[in-house]
Amino acid sequence: MTLIKEPDYGTPAADSEQIVELQIDGQPVKVPAGTSVMRAAALAGFSIPKLCATDSLEAFGSCRLCLVEIEGGRGTPASCTTPVAAGMKVKTQTPKLEKLRRGVMELYISDHPLDCLTCPANGDCELQDMAGVVGLREVRYGFDGENHLDAPTDSSNPYFDFDESKCIACSRCVRACSEVQGTFALTIAGRGFDSKVSASAGELFLNSECVSCGACVQACPTSTLQEKSVVDLGMPTRSVITTCAYCGVGCSFKAEMRGDELVRMVPYKDGGANEGHSCVKGRFAFGYASHPDRVMKPLMREKITDQWREVEWEEAIGFVGRRMREIQDQYGVGAIGGITSSRCTDEEVYVVQKMVRAAFGNNNVDTCARVCHSPTGYGLSQTFGTSAGTQDFKSVAKSDVIVVIGANPTDGHPVFASRMKRRLREGAKLVVIDPRRIDLVRSPHVEASYHLQLAPGTNVAVVNAFAHVVVTEGLVDSDFVAERCEGYEQWAEFIARPEHSPEAVEEITGVPASELREAARLYATGGNGAIYYGLGVTEHSQGSTMVMGMANLAMATGNIGRDGVGINPLRGQNNVQGSCDMGSFPHEFPGYRHVSDDTVRGVYETLWGRALEAEPGLRIPNMFDAAVDGSFKALFVQGEDIAQSDPNTKHVTAALKSLDLLVVQDLFINETAKLAHVLLPGTSFLEKDGTFINAERRINRVRPIMAPRTGKHEWEIVCEIAQAMGYPMTYDHSSEIMDEIAITTPTFSGVSFKMLDEKGSVQWPCNANAPQGTPIMHVDGFVRGKGRFVETDYIPTSERSTRRFPLILTTGRILSQYNVGAQTRRTANVAWHPEDLLELHPHDAEVRGIKDGDEVALASRVGETHLHARIDDRMPVGVVYTTFHHPVTGANVVTTDNSDWATNCPEYKVTAVQVRLKKAAERHESSVASERLPALAQD
Ligand code: SF4
Ligand code: SF4
Ligand code: SF4
Ligand code: FES
Repeated sequence: MTLIKEPDYGTPAADSEQIVELQIDGQPVKVPAGTSVMRAAALAGFSIPKLCATDSLEAFGSCRLCLVEIEGGRGTPASCTTPVAAGMKVKTQTPKLEKLRRGVMELYISDHPLDCLTCPANGDCELQDMAGVVGLREVRYGFDGENHLDAPTDSSNPYFDFDESKCIACSRCVRACSEVQGTFALTIAGRGFDSKVSASAGELFLNSECVSCGACVQACPTSTLQEKSVVDLGMPTRSVITTCAYCGVGCSFKAEMRGDELVRMVPYKDGGANEGHSCVKGRFAFGYASHPDRVMKPLMREKITDQWREVEWEEAIGFVGRRMREIQDQYGVGAIGGITSSRCTDEEVYVVQKMVRAAFGNNNVDTCARVCHSPTGYGLSQTFGTSAGTQDFKSVAKSDVIVVIGANPTDGHPVFASRMKRRLREGAKLVVIDPRRIDLVRSPHVEASYHLQLAPGTNVAVVNAFAHVVVTEGLVDSDFVAERCEGYEQWAEFIARPEHSPEAVEEITGVPASELREAARLYATGGNGAIYYGLGVTEHSQGSTMVMGMANLAMATGNIGRDGVGINPLRGQNNVQGSCDMGSFPHEFPGYRHVSDDTVRGVYETLWGRALEAEPGLRIPNMFDAAVDGSFKALFVQGEDIAQSDPNTKHVTAALKSLDLLVVQDLFINETAKLAHVLLPGTSFLEKDGTFINAERRINRVRPIMAPRTGKHEWEIVCEIAQAMGYPMTYDHSSEIMDEIAITTPTFSGVSFKMLDEKGSVQWPCNANAPQGTPIMHVDGFVRGKGRFVETDYIPTSERSTRRFPLILTTGRILSQYNVGAQTRRTANVAWHPEDLLELHPHDAEVRGIKDGDEVALASRVGETHLHARIDDRMPVGVVYTTFHHPVTGANVVTTDNSDWATNCPEYKVTAVQVRLKKAAERHESSVASERLPALAQD
C-alpha cells in the first residue's frame, strides 16, 4: 500500500460538449471547449510548472510560473488562464520559458525559509517540487534584504498551524475558503510586498469566521497551512480510501497513515459525495477512535449497581446467548429484541436484524432512524413508492429555486451546504422555512429571497398553503400530473379549500400570507425547484404528513425526475439510509418489503433455514412501554445511546432499568451502557470493513486501516451470539454479508465489494436494470407506477404553550459536535462547543431577567434541566432552542413522548417549556413545595 497522490490538472474541468483540437509540444490533443491550456497539457501528459493553480479552484494567474509560448501569439501567456482554441500550437518547454520560470522561482525562494530538511512538508511541498522542476540552482538575490522570514505562526486552531513565514501569497487558501467552502473567512490584506493572508479582520484563526473545514490547508502548496498531526507525527507513507463516519453526506477520505498510526484524513477528490471537500468533523475529529475511554474488552455484571468485571469474549457471548434463551423460556419468544445503529455498516446492521428474526424468532427489531427519518421512509413510499431521496448531491448545481425546510445544512450537512451555497452564489433563489434564522438565511454572498419563520409544529399548514397557491393560481404542471400521477382531482379539491389558503393559516403559522404566496409562486415558476429538508420536518407529530405534503407539492409542479429538482432528505447520521435499507424496521425485511409478504418471507426462510414471524414486531417506544409493563425483558442495543438520544429520558431510563438483560455494543460506556449488564466493545470506523449508504443512496466502501482493536468485528460478535442461541450464522468476511444482501434484495442485486472497489461508489437501485446505479430516481415513472397525491390534513400538535409553559423549545445540532457527542466530545472539537446552550430571543430573556451567559432552568411538563443562556435575535419571540450534544445537559430530559402518528418518530421539535434564571427557579420550586406541604400533611 502506498500513499495515493491524486493528479492535479491545474484548473477545473470544462462543462462543454464541444470538442476543440490543438497541438501541445507537437502532439495532437482534443479537449472540451473552455479547457485551459494548462489542463489540456496535463490531460495529455505534459506537466507545466504551477504554483497558484490547482484543479479545485478557478484559475487566478498570479504566480507567472506556468508561462507557455503559443505560435503566432504575443508574449508568454499563463497557461492556467488561457483557454484552448482550435488549431492552437502550444510550446510548454523552451529555453526562454525555462529562464523565465527560474527567475520567478528565484524570487519566491529568496523570501522563503530554507529549512526544507526540517520542514513538516518536506516531500509534500509544491514549492520544493517546482524548484526542482524548473532546475533552480542558485538564488542571486541573497537572503539579506527585506523579507518575511520572521513572520509569526498562528497556532490557535486545534488542528492546523498557520506559519506565515512560509507563505508565498498565492491566494489558494483565500480562494478555497470562498469558492469551495463558501465561508469567505480569509483575505489577502495589503499590497505587493506587504500582502499577507489574514483570517477575518486580523483575528486568530480560532476566533475568526473560520469553520475549520480544512479546504485552505488542502489547497496550500507549502507548509504555511499545515496539519498539526503532520508536524507531530511526520509525513504519512500510505493511504486507504474510506468514508467519514459522521453525517449523512458520506464524504470519501484518504486515511493517510505512517506505520500503524493515522496521521490525517484527506478528502478524496474522486469521492462522489464530496469531490475533495470536507468539514471539521470528517477532516480532523477522528481522535476519539484512540481515546483512552474506549472499552477494549467485554464487561459484565450481574446487577447494574455492581462494578463491571472484565471478561473474555467467550464468557460474554456465551452468557448473552444463554440468558436470552432463558428469558424467552420464561417470558415468551417476544420478550426480547434488538435495536440497530445508523452508525454501523450495512453489513453490521443486516446481521442484527437477521439475528432478531432468525435466532430470536420475532420481528422485535427497530433502528435509531425511528427517532429521526422514519417519516421520510413512510411519506415517500406512500407517494413515490420508495423510501429515499430522489437526487444525487450534484443535482443542486442545476437548481434554480432551493427550498430548505427544517434543516440547517451549514451545521448539519456542511459539505453539501458548500455545494448549495456555490449554486446560490451563481444566482439560484433560496427560500428558508424555519422558526430560527439559520446561517443560510444571510451569509457572505448568499441571502434568502424569503425566510418564512413559522411557528414550530405548523409545517403542514405551510406546505398545504404552498400547494393551495399552486392549485388556485393555475401554477400546476398539468402535463406532468396527467401523465405521471394519480389522485390529483380529489387532492386538488381538498387543497383548494379556503382553509388552506395562506391568509387562513397566517394566524396559526405566523407566516405573513403575502410572503408565503410569493414564495410559493417562486417555487412553482422559478425553473427547477428543489426541496431539501431535515429533522425539522420529520420530528413532529405530523412528520409523515409533512413529507407527503412536500411530495404532493413537487408532483403538482412537475419538480421530480430530472436534475435540479426533487425531494431530498438530509440524513443525520452516516448510515441512516443504510440502516433503514437493511431491514431494521419491525415490519420490513431489507429493501422495505413487508414481513407479511409470503413470497419475500419465503426467500429468507429458505436461505436462513427458519420459519419466520409474519406479524410486525415492536417499535422502540413499544419496547420501552412493554419493558415498563414487565412483558419485555431483554434488549440488544447496537451502537446507539438511547438513554441520551431518545425522548423523555425518565421513561427510557425506567424502561431500561426494568430489563433483566441489557446488552450494549459500543465504543464507550455511554449513558445507555451505564444501565447495561453486558458491554460488548465495538469497533471504530477505522477498523470496520463494509459499506455506508449516504443521503443520496450512495453505497460507499468503509475500509479498515487496522484490524479490530477489540479482537472482533461487530458482525462476528452478533453471529456468535446467534450461534450461542443455537442458530448457525457464520461468514468468513463481511463481503459475504453484502453478497447475501445482494441475492435477497432486488435494489442491491448488482452490488458487491468487488464492484464497489472497481467503481468507487454507486447509488441504489443497482441491479440488472441499472448496472451503473441510479443517481436520479423516478425519471420516466415513479417506482410505484403513478405518483400518488395524498390529502394532508393539518392537525395541530397536542403540545401547546400554556401559562405554565409559555415557550416552545425546539432542538438541533451544531457544526463541531455530532449527535450525542460521544465521539466529538472526545476530540479537540470541544474548543468550539464545550456545552449545550439555550438560545432565546432578547425579549424573552428580558422579561425573565436573564442575561447572556446566565444559568437557567429549562422545564417542561416531563422534566427539568439546567444550561447557560445565549441571547440571540435569530430566535423568534416565544421559541427557544438548544442542542443535545452533552449528556450533562440532557436536553431530552424535557422532551415529551409525543410522536408522529404513522411512525412514532418523536416530536423533538415542539416542547412547551418555561425558562427561569436558575436561582429564581429554585426559589419558585421551594415556594411551590411549601404551598404543597399542608395538603400533603392532610393526605
Ligand atoms: S479551514 Fe475552511 S473555513 Fe477555515 S479558513 Fe480554511 S477554508 Fe476557510
Ligand atoms: S497560506 Fe498557503 S495557500 Fe495561502 S497564500 Fe500562503 S502559501 Fe498560498
Ligand atoms: S460533511 Fe458529514 S460526511 Fe462530510 S466530512 Fe463532514 S461530517 Fe463527514
Ligand atoms: S499557475 Fe498559472 S499563473 Fe500561477
